[in-house]
Amino acid sequence: MIVLGIETSCDETAAAVVTDARVIRASLVLSQLEQHRPFGGVVPEIAARAHLDHLDRLVREALDQAGVGLAELDGIAATGGPGLIGGVIVGVTMGKALALAHDRPFVAVNHLEGHALTCRLTDDVGFPYLLLLVSGGHSQLLAVEGVGRYVRLGTTIDDAVGEAFDKVAKMLGLGFPGGPAVEAAARDGDPARFDLPRPLRGRPGADFSFSGLKTAVRLAAEGLPPGDFAPRDLADLAASFQAAVGDVLADRTAHAIAQFRSIHPAARSLVVAGGVAANAALRARLNEVAASHDMRLIAPPPRLCTDNAAMIAWAGIERLRLGLIDRLDFAPRPRWPLDPRAEAA
Ligand code: KG4
Ligand code: ZN
Repeated sequence: MIVLGIETSCDETAAAVVTDARVIRASLVLSQLEQHRPFGGVVPEIAARAHLDHLDRLVREALDQAGVGLAELDGIAATGGPGLIGGVIVGVTMGKALALAHDRPFVAVNHLEGHALTCRLTDDVGFPYLLLLVSGGHSQLLAVEGVGRYVRLGTTIDDAVGEAFDKVAKMLGLGFPGGPAVEAAARDGDPARFDLPRPLRGRPGADFSFSGLKTAVRLAAEGLPPGDFAPRDLADLAASFQAAVGDVLADRTAHAIAQFRSIHPAARSLVVAGGVAANAALRARLNEVAASHDMRLIAPPPRLCTDNAAMIAWAGIERLRLGLIDRLDFAPRPRWPLDPRAEAA
């Protein structure tokens, strides 16, 4: 099976070609960073227009690189949500049009399912597994029991982890996007210098909260000498923040492991996915958690943690294998929870 994937739900325009032998034949990601940078965040209207400007060229390039024609594809998968609706409409419309013109099956992929199943593309992980999904818009712990089968064990009650990184970066003047900038600033910092809170640590359940931590970083920054931050202060504050996030993720994941084990006693895989999973310090922290609970941590390579279309093509393959094809009247979905039974936090 060979499938084209299209991703347009946020600020990356991406196209990829992947086979069911778990080979990525092409994976192109065009970042719109420069267009959004002056605004300090993603502007939905700019994003939608940029997807429109570049998607057809990117799809053509991905197909050329993969050496495959549209008629040879076994399916066309596009992110159907959740995300910024203008961008999702661009990708879904392109996917449907190609599917219709070449009489190929169309699959609408949940972006979060793309992140959730990436570890089966990179590491052939079997179901069930425990997933820590940490991105710009989502922070969740889920039992992944199969394609389309998710049980949410915990979620954030306020900010997503990536959002906290982005906001802290803004406060510290590190620019946008924040995650990689905070990680770089933290590298030589002292994580013990600032005494920051670990929200919800030790509490029952596996929910997260990050807004109090974010406020504590702001107060710590305001307590520093006025003017530009001294490099040492910046490094120490970034490192202290990152360490607090690591402790929270470790504690909440440990709680989720206990819940997961009670449902699936024999399962041993802990998977981390989403943009924040690209963070090396957090990966190391989660490795310790996994090891101390007799679990194995699986973390896709960083370029497959942040948004890409290979994960969408792969999720398309997983769905096509099960005969899950979407109709051409599929309506793009701004919201699309993985576990629809879970209550809103
Ligand atoms: O999954 P993703 O690429 O897009 C969404 O679906 O949201 O995640 C983007 C988020 C951003 O908040 C970004 O700051 C964060 O992932 N991120 C990181 C790192 N790289 C990206 N956070 C911490 N450390 C990183 N190295
Ligand atoms: Zn994402």
